[in-house]
Amino acid sequence: MTKSATIEGTKHYANKFAGRAADGHFREAQGLVVSSLGIGTYLGQPDPKTDASYTAAITAAAESGINVFDAAINYRFQRSERNIGAAIKQLAAKGFSREEFVVCTKGGYLTPDGSMPEEPNEYFFREYLQPGIFTGKDIVAGSHCITPRFLENQLGRSLGNLGLDCIDVYYLHNPETQLGEVSPPDFLERVRDAFIYLESAADAGKIQFYGMATWSGFREEAKSARGMQLAELAQIAEDIAGKKHRFRFVQLPFNLGMTEALTLGNQSMGGKDRTVMEAASELGITLIASASLLQGQVARNLPGFVAEALGLEDDAERALQFVRSSPGITAALVGMSRVEHVQANARLVNVAPATVDQFTKLFSRGESA
Ligand SMILES: NC(=O)c1ccc[n+]([C@@H]2O[C@H](COP(=O)([O-])OP(=O)(O)OC[C@H]3O[C@@H](n4cnc5c(N)ncnc54)[C@H](OP(=O)(O)O)[C@@H]3O)[C@@H](O)[C@H]2O)c1
Repeated sequence: MTKSATIEGTKHYANKFAGRAADGHFREAQGLVVSSLGIGTYLGQPDPKTDASYTAAITAAAESGINVFDAAINYRFQRSERNIGAAIKQLAAKGFSREEFVVCTKGGYLTPDGSMPEEPNEYFFREYLQPGIFTGKDIVAGSHCITPRFLENQLGRSLGNLGLDCIDVYYLHNPETQLGEVSPPDFLERVRDAFIYLESAADAGKIQFYGMATWSGFREEAKSARGMQLAELAQIAEDIAGKKHRFRFVQLPFNLGMTEALTLGNQSMGGKDRTVMEAASELGITLIASASLLQGQVARNLPGFVAEALGLEDDAERALQFVRSSPGITAALVGMSRVEHVQANARLVNVAPATVDQFTKLFSRGESA
């Protein structure tokens, strides 16, 4: 039997923090219990020192009440996935089971293996073009591909890097990159092919759910040719697999400086304008926030009204509190390659999410500031 996050495992995880974790820190999503903070692994050098630091940080996060781990195959040239794998092994020795963790990764970007080869073109020719894993016409922006053959290859590599036989959430990584070179109808056909493959991977137990991890795709104005419509994408999944489709997660940047998911009505649902948060909720899709600290930029020097509205000890906490308390966000991903940052951010595990009153105060002051 393949091992993945389970309801029993994730509940057992949350129970370990009973009496310590505040109400509302753990939430239920797609039948799993997930923490309101997740650890991201994007930034940092592709070197052994950063590997050791990430492995320690992921282990510390799990020990502090954070059970969502996020990577992508291309993060630090596959090293971040390997660091998550190493941490899960260390955590097993400390009594944590695989079923307690929601492990998420992404495919779509070409990446070398561990470090940049001296001759990158030769590497990609040997590894991909020669064996027919992609052809030149499958690639956009010189580095992005979502064909089934490529995804199958990348998923296999990610499973190996993580040392797992099932990934809980497998995202297409910035699929909107394709819209830079292919027309919207062709894009949707590519998405359909990718989803057919991902549904088959879910049937085979290699992934539990799939989704899209995006940067700009869900933050564009409604009429933008570079934007994506969640309802249209969910319909593709439903056409393929019916109401029980596994397209259940969307990741998008959301932080004090990028609030579109909450404030921009760029989604069309039954002829009505909806925000991404509203659309996701109607469609049964879980939203995960990325770049919760705007890559560190909102961890300090926030205007005083944020502290007045949210309280707490420092700006990094306030910035994360904003994201994890927003209606519709299940988990706020924060990149943490250092244990000190895990320890600082995990203070929020003991803090209940902001109340509606606090949130309203934040927005009314934000508008008048
Ligand atoms: N399109 C996509 O799919 C996409 C795009 C962006 C991000 N993501 C995901 O979302 C995750 C989070 O985004 P991100 O890593 O880009 O940016 P982020 O979470 O907004 O910021 C991460 C940065 O903040 C620092 N930091 C963490 N806690 C801090 C604290 N308490 N005080 C001061 N600085 C602190 C980290 O430092 P240290 O590393 O030194 O601890 C790191 O430099 C990523 O790691 C990735 O998993 C996905």
